[in-house]
Formats: sequence, C-alpha cells, structure tokens
Amino acid sequence: MILGFIGTGKITSSIICGLLNSKLKTKRIYISSRNKNIAKKLERKSRSIKILKDNQEIVNRSSILFLAVTPIVANKILPKLKFKKNKKIISLISTINLKKLKRITKSNYIIRAIPLPPVEINKGPIVICPPNNQAKRIFNHIGTVIEIKNENLSFKFWSTASLMAAYYEILNVSSNWLIKKGIKKNMANNYISELFLSLSIDAANKKNKGFKKLVEESQTPKGLNMEVLKGLKKKKFYLKWINSLDQVNKRVSK
Ligand SMILES: NC(=O)c1ccc[n+]([C@@H]2O[C@H](COP(=O)([O-])OP(=O)(O)OC[C@H]3O[C@@H](n4cnc5c(N)ncnc54)[C@H](OP(=O)(O)O)[C@@H]3O)[C@@H](O)[C@H]2O)c1
Repeated sequence: MILGFIGTGKITSSIICGLLNSKLKTKRIYISSRNKNIAKKLERKSRSIKILKDNQEIVNRSSILFLAVTPIVANKILPKLKFKKNKKIISLISTINLKKLKRITKSNYIIRAIPLPPVEINKGPIVICPPNNQAKRIFNHIGTVIEIKNENLSFKFWSTASLMAAYYEILNVSSNWLIKKGIKKNMANNYISELFLSLSIDAANKKNKGFKKLVEESQTPKGLNMEVLKGLKKKKFYLKWINSLDQVNKRVSK
C-alpha cells in the first residue's frame, strides 16, 4: 500500500505518527513539502516517508490519496490536478461534500473521514462516509471507526468533532484558576488532566447507561457539583454550547 498526503499539517502529522505506532504495513508514504517543517520532521521518523514537491506526483504515485488541506486551498489546487476515474481518495476536508469532491476530481472512489489528533496515540473515533473496507482497515489501526452511510448524518459528527478546542479550554481555564489560587503549574495541570481523564474513562465504561445518569450520580443533593451545574445552567452555558453546535452544523452541511 502506497499512501499519499496532499497537505502536511496537523492532521496529516497525527495520522502518520499514529500509523507509525501501529501494525499497519505501508510500503511508502508520500507527503507534500508544505508545511516544510512538519514534512521534514515526519521524513526523519521513517525511511518509508518521502517528501514530494509536486502535488500531481503525489496523486500519481499513491495507491490511496489523502486530501488534508483546508477547504480554501482545496478549492484552489484540486481543479488543477488530474485524477484517474478509479483513484482512491480519502478526503479529510471538513466543508467540501462528496458531490463536489466527485465533480472536482472526477473520481468515483471518494471517502470522507473525520480522524482527530489523538489518532497519533491510536485513540479516538474516526467517522467514515460512505462505509468502505479499505478505509476502515487503515483507520482501525489508529482509532475506532464509525461507518456512516448517509452523508447528511456524517455532518452532525463533524459538528461534535468541533468541540475539541472548547473542551481543552475548559481544562485550560480550570488549571489557570488553580494556578491563580497559588497552586504550582505542574501540580495544577497534573490534577486537571487526571481529573478529566478519569471522568472520560468512567464515561466510556458506562456509556450504555447514558450520560444523563452520570450527571445525576455525580451530584450530592445540595452539594458542590449541584451548585456548579445549576449556576452554569442559569447562565445558559449549555444552551450556548448547543447553539454553537447548531451554528457549526449549518456551516458543514452546506
Ligand atoms: N486538525 C484537525 O483536527 C482535523 C481533523 C479532521 C479533519 N481536518 C481537516 O483536514 C484539513 C487540514 O487540517 P489541518 O488541521 O491539518 O490544517 P493545517 O495544519 O493548516 O494543514 C494544512 C496544510 O496544507 C498545506 N498547504 C497549503 N497550501 C498547499 C498546497 N498548495 N499544496 C499542498 N499543501 C498545501 C499547508 O502548508 P503551509 O503551512 O506551508 O501553508 C499545511 O501544512 C482541513 O480541511 C481540516 O478541516 C482537520
């Protein structure tokens, strides 16, 4: 299997590091020279990784091609590239739908995928649409594949995938609060990361119960957790959270 990546940014780097940590055998991985620094760092990690300056060469030489550029760059560069009709393409681009990708590339073999940076440590959900055995086989090595037939439904996952930065900001704000109260940075970061890690593992183990149950169980009547939750609800924190999801959903569903 020869993989090619157009765009060597954050997500390409996470996928390739994840693949290098996995048991998937790849004969060769071609990456583009942009971003130069990331490309050089990746090339140093394995002899199977080669940088190519010309995007068309990456298309021609790969058996599976990943599109990992931003939508603006994709709209600019993809129409200039030539793809065979049966070119296997996995697009990671958030806001270009299958119909448009097929029109631009003229390929009939396009899968959209939503891997997230933790694939670097072989963790996290990876939505693929439409279902495809080869994409599933690759991505199962670096995360948990969720196959979606209906592209409209896959947009909803794109929306929830956009909660990453907001989630990290909760960790950041909480840790900074501890630091401002006089706790050493290392200790604060350690406490907050361990706290949220344990809650996430617990939630994953109990996912069949539903998350509402966990919300209930984590509150003592008139206790501290109840006070924080009530306060945030009163300030419409969760309503704003849902509004943000609706807003981003409109953008990805275009
Ligand atoms: N980050 C995520 O968590 C994530 C998850 C799933 C999907 N995605 C999607 O994946 C795509 C890339 O996201 P990203 O976060 O990896 O963005 P990024 O870090 O900004 O990477 C984009 C890369 O494209 C390169 N590029 C720009 N013009 C190019 C050209 N003409 N030819 C080849 N490469 C070019 C950029 O190089 P320069 O730095 O030299 O400009 C940069 O390395 C986006 O569509 C995003 O929606 C991202």
